[in-house]
Amino acid sequence: METADNRRKVMVIHGPNLNMLGKREPEIYGRTTLQEIDEGLIDSGERMGLAVETFQSNHEGAIVDRIQKAAGACQGLIINPAAYTHTSIAIRDALLMLDVPVIEIHLSNIYKREKFRHKSMIAGAATAQISGFGARGYTMALEAINRMIG
Ligand code: DQA
Repeated sequence: METADNRRKVMVIHGPNLNMLGKREPEIYGRTTLQEIDEGLIDSGERMGLAVETFQSNHEGAIVDRIQKAAGACQGLIINPAAYTHTSIAIRDALLMLDVPVIEIHLSNIYKREKFRHKSMIAGAATAQISGFGARGYTMALEAINRMIG
């Protein structure tokens, strides 16, 4: 007999080119692959009693669709919008529909890089931002959400 999963749910969304982590500019983004990040989050979530679901897309509309699906279906959301951070009003507007904690995360410190990366369209729609801790930042984001909703 199937038992219901009563755990709180956290949605993790990765934007464009993050599927290439490990190979992509490792001097900036590190050598951890996206699969390793996702598996680490699922494991940490299990220890915290959270059900973690992950999603990656290179397409802005697919990310908007996934955020809309998350509304009312999760207790927290972690998003690395990647390059869409700096351009996407559509992702920002979708996040504004959520009434759960949203953590914006970047592997690199976006404020230490090119000027066009200093501006985040997402920050105003997020509860908090983590930037520059590499792959460890994802675990930090999950811990933060666990405390916020705990
Ligand atoms: C990034 C930073 C963005 O500026 C960049 O476009 C990315 C990754 C980061 O995780 O550091 O793709 O979001």
